Amino acid sequence: MTYQIPVYDINKEHSLSQPPNYNNKNSLMKTDKVYKCEITNIVELTDKEKLFQLKIIDPVEAKIFSFLPGQFVMLELPGFGEIPISISGSTSRRGSVALCIRKAGKVTNMLHKLSKGAHVGIRGPFGTHFPMKQMAGGNILLIAGGLGIAPLRAPIYYINEHRSEYENVHILYGVKTPDEIIFDFQFDSWRKVYGYNIDIIVEKPDKNWRGKTGLITELFNDIVIDPENTSAIVCGPPVMFKFVCDYLHRQGLPMNKMFVSLERRMHCGMGKCCRCMVGSTFTCVDGPVMDFWTVMNLKEAI
Ligand SMILES: Cc1cc2nc3c(=O)[nH]c(=O)nc-3n(C[C@H](O)[C@H](O)[C@H](O)COP(=O)(O)OP(=O)(O)OC[C@H]3O[C@@H](n4cnc5c(N)ncnc54)[C@H](O)[C@@H]3O)c2cc1C
Ligand code: FES
Repeated sequence: MTYQIPVYDINKEHSLSQPPNYNNKNSLMKTDKVYKCEITNIVELTDKEKLFQLKIIDPVEAKIFSFLPGQFVMLELPGFGEIPISISGSTSRRGSVALCIRKAGKVTNMLHKLSKGAHVGIRGPFGTHFPMKQMAGGNILLIAGGLGIAPLRAPIYYINEHRSEYENVHILYGVKTPDEIIFDFQFDSWRKVYGYNIDIIVEKPDKNWRGKTGLITELFNDIVIDPENTSAIVCGPPVMFKFVCDYLHRQGLPMNKMFVSLERRMHCGMGKCCRCMVGSTFTCVDGPVMDFWTVMNLKEAI
């Protein structure tokens, strides 16, 4: 079966002529500063992913460092290299930076060998962020595929801390196998304390899995979306966010109310080395967070 991109309804997308100003340039200042950090806690989430809690060592720097949901840091492991990692914690915990890291190669394998007390460096925060204020007042769909739940935690914490500003919050989370589910220890509190709906779906269940089975888009069969009053944040591999956003667009959700995080290999994180470019767009500065309309109009972005 061939898959067709839905036709744009430009009349519905009229607000795109004035794109939202969610690219906060001020947050791109001081981008070459390295904050020295101590790893204060490590939680083994799966055999591939660990959650690292970092504390900025200098108390003055700890007060200076702040970030917005969706931004990332360049994490430096001296002698091994520097990698971009999304911040996966609360924006309000000054001096504390949570990073959920999957073992992928040289730097991440080495990071997984570190213990509490080890020192690393971070630069940043970098990039655009999810426009949390612009989304306030309506319903929010938070949709994660696989490790996409890691960057999604920052907007989730933000909504927790500003709960009265948002209406219904629905988290949809899809993974390949049940043992890939992470942060499930938080799901109960997100449901009970903050009243979120959370649906999980597994592509390849094991014999113990009693929940829903299939691709993440199948979760939409059971929910009703109010397109006039809903925004979406979608984090995951490009093939996943494309199918999800196309579906939501067919339900009437404007493309400029869906936000995705576009990942590319990065080197400087600050628009200087051109490593992350898609066409003439710097993923590190113009992204990683972009609305789906922008991503669809970026040649070779997906
Ligand atoms: C904005 C941004 C946010 C990110 N957030 C997270 C996060 O929260 N948690 C996390 O675990 N990872 C995240 N990543 C991916 C992470 O940066 C890479 O896994 C890491 O750079 C790999 O470094 P390495 O030295 O361990 O692997 P390498 O030895 O450099 O590479 C190992 C393999 O990973 C692939 N790879 C490396 N970088 C990327 C990338 N950017 N995208 C896709 N494939 C890549 C390589 O092609 C290679 O196949 C993010 C990437 C970006 C750009
Ligand atoms: S990573 Fe260097 S320009 Fe984007």
